[in-house]
Amino acid sequence: MAQKGNNINIQIASEEHLAYVDTILQTIADAAKVRGTGIAKRNPDYIKNKIVEGKAIIALSGDEFAGFCYIESWGHDKFVANSGLIVVDEFRGQGLAKNIKRKAFELSRKRYPTAKIFGLTTGLAVMKINSELGYKPVTFSELTDDNEFWKGCQSCVNYDILLRTNRKHCLCTGMLFDPARDAKPDPIPPRKLGVYERWLRFKKFVFLGGNRKKSNKDGKNNVLKSFFSALFA
Ligand SMILES: CC(C)(COP(=O)(O)OP(=O)(O)OC[C@H]1O[C@@H](n2cnc3c(N)ncnc32)[C@H](O)[C@@H]1OP(=O)(O)O)[C@@H](O)C(=O)NCCC(=O)NCCS
Repeated sequence: MAQKGNNINIQIASEEHLAYVDTILQTIADAAKVRGTGIAKRNPDYIKNKIVEGKAIIALSGDEFAGFCYIESWGHDKFVANSGLIVVDEFRGQGLAKNIKRKAFELSRKRYPTAKIFGLTTGLAVMKINSELGYKPVTFSELTDDNEFWKGCQSCVNYDILLRTNRKHCLCTGMLFDPARDAKPDPIPPRKLGVYERWLRFKKFVFLGGNRKKSNKDGKNNVLKSFFSALFA
């Protein structure tokens, strides 16, 4: 894969970047097709609003689109999510997502200083970036209960899993930064990242794997519960 990392400008997006909305959405939609990757599709007007409100981060290499992320507040501004993170294939593996997320994190802290910042992800890269910023893995019950946020998952290919588990589990892991608690980042040690990887494989096996007989459903949920408690206790 060609490496195209030079002179990438990461900035808070503004109206001059509205012309990139179609490209941003197409890049997200292409990434969302991969089964097992939890990415919801986005509506063009929603992304346009984020840009106009100064709540999006865009990365450009010259005029070429390289990456994007936006922030959204939930539960009467008690929670902020950094969502829609995407890096174009050719620009991956060079720390771009990390820099975009850092900028989105700073923007979130500035605009919502007392809010808890959270994200849902299936990606080890994102888990790593989040933990370096001070996020901790949490159960979904610690995230916002704002139904509007969870509605955003409806367009994700894995939404059936969230429904089946009454919003308790999905392929995504919830991670949360609580400004009252997590001021000091505590990066995930490499050994723990391996645990995340196995945990994700296990969830894919349980939720996407073959046998979905109803009689086995409760058993599976119990196994998940104990595994999850052991991992995040
Ligand atoms: C996930 C994504 C944003 C990562 O972008 P990126 O620019 O390649 O990521 P970075 O280069 O900043 O990598 C950040 C860290 O994660 C690690 N990493 C990157 N890809 C990884 C992977 N597939 N597995 C494990 N670790 C990975 C990097 O080594 C780096 O760690 P380091 O600082 O210790 O070197 C990009 O692959 C993407 O757009 N994927 C499709 C959309 C998506 O999954 N979005 C996330 C939705 S939550």
